[in-house]
Amino acid sequence: MLTPDGESTPRREAIELPPASLAEALIRCSLDMIISVDLQRRIFEFNPAAERQFGYARHEVLGRPVDMLYAEPAEGAALSAQTLRCGFCGELWNRRKDGTRFCCYVSASPLHDASGAVVGLMGISRDITEQRRSREALQQAHADLEKLNGELDELNRALEGKVRQRTAELRAAYDDTLDALVLALDAREHATAGHSRRVAVYCVELALRCGLSDGALENIYRGALLHDIGKIGVPDAVLLKPGRLDDAERRVIEQHVVIGARLLERVGYLQSATTIPRFHHERYDGGGYVAGLAGEAIPPEARAFAIIDVYDALRSQRPYKPALGHDDARKVIRGGAGREFDPRMCAAFADVSEQRWAALAGVAGRTDRFDEVLAACRAS
Ligand SMILES: [Fe+2]
Repeated sequence: MLTPDGESTPRREAIELPPASLAEALIRCSLDMIISVDLQRRIFEFNPAAERQFGYARHEVLGRPVDMLYAEPAEGAALSAQTLRCGFCGELWNRRKDGTRFCCYVSASPLHDASGAVVGLMGISRDITEQRRSREALQQAHADLEKLNGELDELNRALEGKVRQRTAELRAAYDDTLDALVLALDAREHATAGHSRRVAVYCVELALRCGLSDGALENIYRGALLHDIGKIGVPDAVLLKPGRLDDAERRVIEQHVVIGARLLERVGYLQSATTIPRFHHERYDGGGYVAGLAGEAIPPEARAFAIIDVYDALRSQRPYKPALGHDDARKVIRGGAGREFDPRMCAAFADVSEQRWAALAGVAGRTDRFDEVLAACRAS
């Protein structure tokens, strides 16, 4: 071979070392611990890396049982027996000369003599204490997080339960307030005792039969219950006047639909229940008050309520009239189909028996809770 100056360099010969010498160098220079034991589990190889890690000098361990190196000797013994059969790869806790523990990743294999017979074991191991501790810390953090998540879920469930309970209590308080208001209203007109509660229950029944959406039923119930709330703005002299009203007085009393709707609009949870109070005196033929709507332009809940309101008034005794029987009241309603009332709703109304209305009147006398009313109306 020529150098850039044209001079030849001496040819390098390949270095050949006996395998035993190579193995010896490997064991001596390895940064991993290499430890070999015979079949009686006595140490016969202990490299410098093992000396550094365990703190024993080679001569202190040679010929002694390998168990002295294990943190858990029983575990080590079982491992040796297993390794003789099929080798081993895994983690193992060891103990230094000063008694401290450290964790190794061990790869151990059986050693064979020239005839192939097993004569011992050789293990190569590396200290992984730090990685192991990091992994355990991570696992612990994971477990803590899981536990925390579980506690959080439990807390959320408890909170949701509390909110549900408080909402139910609030709703019950609202219902009680409404009921007191309705009782006061009915009492003011003396002759209409129980009217508001009855028409509220009847109206839910007819709304269900007319296919009105489930979501609207609670507002229908509340709206029907409070349909005449605007009458608190009508003077007694007009509201309680016996005999016919003159035009001016009629206009005053007609204002109760406007007063009632405005009043409920100011109360958050009743804002969606204003339809019946506002439109319950509209007529199907357009001759009602105060908007003068006709036919389908009148909201369906108000059309249903108009039938119910008249039916209950007809069935009730008043100072100026006797109570009508069910059949006579139903005839009056039928006679108003297409004029005062929606004819299709009149047909749905006519399908309800006298016994059914009587049972629903009983429900109205027992409860003012919407869920109980709805359950009763849904039960055939
Ligand atoms: Fe009214």
